[in-house]
Amino acid sequence: MENKFIINGKTKLFGSVNVDGAKNSLLPVLAATVLCDGEIEIKNFVNLEDVKVMLEILKTLGISSKIDSGSCFLQTKNVKNGKITHELSKKLRASIFLLGALLGRFRSAVVAFPGGCKIGERPIDIHLKSFRSLGVKIIEMHGYIFCDASKMKSGSVVLDFPSVGATESLMMCASVLAGKTIIKNAAKEPEIVDLQNFLNKMGAKVFGAGSDTIEIEGVKSLRGGEFSVMPDRIVAGTYLLATATCGGDVTVCGAKAEHNQSLISFLKETACQIEIFSDKIRLKADKRLSSIPLIQTNPFPLFPTDLQSQMLVLQSVSEGSCVLQETVFENRFGCASELKKMGAKIIVKNQFAHIQGVEKLFGADVYATDLRCGAALVAAGMKAEGYTTVYNVSLIDRGYERIEEKYNLLGADIKRI
Ligand code: UD1
Repeated sequence: MENKFIINGKTKLFGSVNVDGAKNSLLPVLAATVLCDGEIEIKNFVNLEDVKVMLEILKTLGISSKIDSGSCFLQTKNVKNGKITHELSKKLRASIFLLGALLGRFRSAVVAFPGGCKIGERPIDIHLKSFRSLGVKIIEMHGYIFCDASKMKSGSVVLDFPSVGATESLMMCASVLAGKTIIKNAAKEPEIVDLQNFLNKMGAKVFGAGSDTIEIEGVKSLRGGEFSVMPDRIVAGTYLLATATCGGDVTVCGAKAEHNQSLISFLKETACQIEIFSDKIRLKADKRLSSIPLIQTNPFPLFPTDLQSQMLVLQSVSEGSCVLQETVFENRFGCASELKKMGAKIIVKNQFAHIQGVEKLFGADVYATDLRCGAALVAAGMKAEGYTTVYNVSLIDRGYERIEEKYNLLGADIKRI
């Protein structure tokens, strides 16, 4: 049975909350273990639904895993090539990372077209074009991608768009490909830097992550070792935005300001108080905040699409009006129609949401349309007057570990039933 959240609203949030390891760093790092020989310990591990699916996929490839006190221990000595079936792939968009890892390790791969959150078309043409440009023969048939990389050679790849997944998949593959591979117009997200750090710790020679050009000097093989994943900047941003929405005073421990600069700059425009420390961020909001006139999502270091829904909620209850433009995904305003049920005034036209802030939201039955929309609706429910029921909670569990317990410790009243 699908869980739902019953939220008794009009909450203010007080206290401190810890940020766990980043899902979007953990998933590519787990995929990259296919390239390694030996035992790997991943610290700051978080056992989210998406992560469980990735471990299930790795098991089919002969990689066993054990979770113990905040770490995941993976044994790769029996790793083998295998088909990534539809059944597994439809559960997880990130299964596409395995394409790069398998091609690097085995020079062939069969992967089903990936699934994941329904926030747009989410094609994988950039991934496939990049591998083709390195000499990989690819046939797309019956929903599967058949790849032969026996003639693959290192070289220079220019991405049409700085796709996070394509950059990561190429980095993995090129780590064990003889010669130098250069990725131009690479994605610059902090998770790319984290993947570079992981690969290098296991013996790879990857340079430049965090800039738009990444250079990879191929090595023969990667070894095992230990690695700690970065804190989740999107989860940190979700807590900060929830506090700004509900009001209160919350310290987000583990949050790094350099990963959330664009969000912090926007929040400073709203007249909330922000204090930045080396390993935590404190946000205090003791009155209704002002709207931010114009917000646009973009690749890092600009404002992340993964915080767009949570920002939509804050703008819905702020004083003034806001135009929020989504430029990364073509169908990511699913949250708007749910918020309108709660009294928000939002008009969506193409890639733009026009938001006129209202003083109050009211409890309603709402449906998470994707992972981040789900997290945003929880914040809206905590702010609203009366009871809100959030359905499709399994989508939220893909990226947040028992979010309701975290908020309840800050003073919320959320029941999972
Ligand atoms: C990653 C994140 C996701 C985040 C997104 C953008 C993970 C596990 N997921 O997803 O949370 O929302 O970055 O920051 O890290 N595109 C193409 N063709 C391709 C690849 C992408 O057209 O071959 C398009 C996508 O449809 C999308 C945009 O490019 O519109 C960005 O996609 P991409 O950066 O690849 O995101 P993901 O790696 O899927």
